[in-house]
Amino acid sequence: MRLKMFWLSVALIGSMATTRAEEKPACPCPIATGKGIVATLNCTMCHSLDGKGGKSAKSLNGIAEGKTDEQLMAAMMDPKKAFGEKTMMPCYKSKITAEQAPAVMAYLKSLKKKECK
Ligand code: HEC
Repeated sequence: MRLKMFWLSVALIGSMATTRAEEKPACPCPIATGKGIVATLNCTMCHSLDGKGGKSAKSLNGIAEGKTDEQLMAAMMDPKKAFGEKTMMPCYKSKITAEQAPAVMAYLKSLKKKECK
């Protein structure tokens, strides 16, 4: 009897998991992954986030607004080319892999500008 219940719940949880995956093809995992990468790389040393963090560069909130993926990639992977030799923005070419870059961009795009009141 107990065993039957066990298998029933396994089947139930299993079916729930697949339903969720089907309902949400664009699952928010890349955003969470990107958030972790941004936190690890300490971008907020210079960029602020939700009003906290560095003041030497613009806020990460809304930083991706109006920018193409190419522009975001250029800023992170080749800042000297994007902003000039004297830029303070570090080059993350060796720190953000090609696999991680889309997640970082997804996260940056998820950060909306704070509305002023
Ligand atoms: C040492 C300070 C510093 C750190 C750390 C830093 N940035 Fe920057 N970032 C800058 C500065 C300064 C600029 C502006 C570039 C310029 O105009 O020279 C910039 C520009 C950018 C831009 C382009 C903004 C625009 O409007 O064109 C993006 C996107 C960006 N940073 C993302 C990041 C991410 C993501 C990280 C972490 C992986 C990061 N930055 C870490 C200083 C920093």
